[in-house]
Amino acid sequence: MKTLILYSTREGQTREIATRLGTELQALGRESDVLNLHGCDDIPWGEYDLVVIGASIHYGHFNRSVNQFIAKYQQQLNKVPSAFFSVNLVARKPEKSTPETNAYTRKFLENSPWHPSYCAVFAGALRYPRYGWLDKLMIRLIMKMTDGETDTSKEVVYTDWQQVSQFAAEIAKLTRNVRA
Ligand SMILES: Cc1cc2nc3c(=O)[nH]c(=O)nc-3n(C[C@H](O)[C@H](O)[C@H](O)COP(=O)(O)O)c2cc1C
Repeated sequence: MKTLILYSTREGQTREIATRLGTELQALGRESDVLNLHGCDDIPWGEYDLVVIGASIHYGHFNRSVNQFIAKYQQQLNKVPSAFFSVNLVARKPEKSTPETNAYTRKFLENSPWHPSYCAVFAGALRYPRYGWLDKLMIRLIMKMTDGETDTSKEVVYTDWQQVSQFAAEIAKLTRNVRA
């Protein structure tokens, strides 16, 4: 049995985290398929005994497709051990980096028909040079208001890769099929 890791990304950071997660699980003796949630249909659910969904926040929301996917496949998702991780910049602040203290994640979990067995919040990446002018302006404004990086020539990765390793170790325990 394998792990299915589905990601929803816009600038690529959630895909990077999902890929790292796959590598970490591999080291723990678990095979994974890492797939883009968008346009992902005809999933052979029977092949997976662990499902992970990761999604990023833009302007306060996860991509609408994430909610649609979960609504569509809630039965399959609730049948196996599963995990959710969210990615956003607010989470760079320790006091906003848990599923309980990160408002996006807390609200998502409160309203979700899927009940993941384990959840985490990861700080994402700030990549000014890759944004269009409006996004750049808006993000700079938000960063200014929250005492963050305002130099628009910079790219800053806030993701704590150690936290991603720990998440992999925790979710691997949700199944019995783990190398000791
Ligand atoms: C246009 C835009 C809007 C964003 N809005 C938010 C936000 O409302 N709250 C937040 O915490 N992070 C916000 N972020 C930060 C992203 O969540 C962060 O860059 C994350 O790493 C993006 O992940 P992705 O590359 O997988 O899409 C925003 C980023 C961009 C580019």
